Amino acid sequence: MTVLVTGGMGYIGSHTCVELLQQGMDVVIVDNLVNSSAEAGRRVEQITNRPVTFYQIDVRDRERLDEVFRRHEIDCVIHFAGLKAVGESVRMPLEYYDNNLNSTIVLCQTMRAHGVKKIIFSSSATVYSGDNEMPLYETSRTGSCTNPYGWTKYVCEQVLRDCVAADPTWSVVLLRYFNPVGAHASGLIGEDPRGIPNNLMPFISQTAIGRREILNVFGNDYDTPDGTCIRDYIHVVDLARGHVAAISYLDGHPGESVFNLGTGRGSSVLEMVRAFETANHLVVPYRFAPRRAGDLPVCYACPDKSAEILHWRAQYNIQDMCRDSWNWQTKNPLGYATE
Ligand code: NAD
Ligand code: UFG
Repeated sequence: MTVLVTGGMGYIGSHTCVELLQQGMDVVIVDNLVNSSAEAGRRVEQITNRPVTFYQIDVRDRERLDEVFRRHEIDCVIHFAGLKAVGESVRMPLEYYDNNLNSTIVLCQTMRAHGVKKIIFSSSATVYSGDNEMPLYETSRTGSCTNPYGWTKYVCEQVLRDCVAADPTWSVVLLRYFNPVGAHASGLIGEDPRGIPNNLMPFISQTAIGRREILNVFGNDYDTPDGTCIRDYIHVVDLARGHVAAISYLDGHPGESVFNLGTGRGSSVLEMVRAFETANHLVVPYRFAPRRAGDLPVCYACPDKSAEILHWRAQYNIQDMCRDSWNWQTKNPLGYATE
């Protein structure tokens, strides 16, 4: 079985490639490296002792993508490629709509031309409306997104739903990720954000290693037990394994299905800081700062549908996530860069 992985050099894509290869599947990666390094692919090969085929191609490049489909007998596609920084999407909406929507459209057109009808799409908890009760079910309200990034995920879900409506023999799985953190236990692959990290976990680990002076905790006056925001953090290896489960499900299940990939357990920002300190025996300097615009006080999944239908549940806890993030950070203080 050959899986085309768009965005496979990125954080979640590289971890997913490891799991796919370890299950005996072959992997073809298409990535333009706009937010990643080809070194990730070499590390994936090192972990698995299996080869990865890589094309440095923009998914929107119709001709070159078509060539990949001509060269390889693709059985299914996992579509990770996309831009993902919420704040940047507010400043550069056209780039986000262009990249995230057009890559999905060109990819689906190319799949259709080659008779490939199985796709897993990287969606996000951000597609849920902010006015839902917790936990979030796959049936909770969507839309009312607060930024262009969220709208691109919302619209891509609709594009894929419409592909199924037009041809019900397609199998589409929409995976809504909660907050992926952590790294592969080998410490060879992990999250390597460019510039100043936007997300909590890379900011914590860069502060712990001294690349950042202090962590700003955005808001301590939310209506939560300790006043800081609550999120559903999930180990990236658990998330990657969710894709393996989804691939098995694609077979024999035409139509469109949506699954949350989360743990069902919320942790506050302060709990994450404490867990990181305890797991790694260090101190993370932090201070309270004003709320960050657009943050919801609480967000966590109900993961029961994934457990029942995909037979997948997250295995790792917060301590594991903090330990593995730190292991990656200390072994690769500058990420994949060497200097
Ligand atoms: P990432 O930036 O590490 O990986 C995305 C990869 O896609 C990168 O390697 C990048 O170079 C590539 N890429 C971007 N545009 C491309 C294009 N037009 N053609 C070819 N390659 C392209 O991000 P990630 O954290 O691994 O996220 C993977 C997917 O999961 C994204 O679609 C993201 O929106 C989604 N997601 C991520 C999170 C998260 O918190 N990390 C949460 C929910 C959903
Ligand atoms: N936070 C801080 N300080 C920081 C960074 C973050 O206090 O330096 C706080 C945020 O205010 C928030 C929490 O940590 O309360 C988590 O923030 P992240 O930026 O790590 O994650 P978000 O929940 O805001 O968003 C992430 C991804 C989105 C995705 C969403 C749901 O960035 O792309 O999860 O999947 F849509």
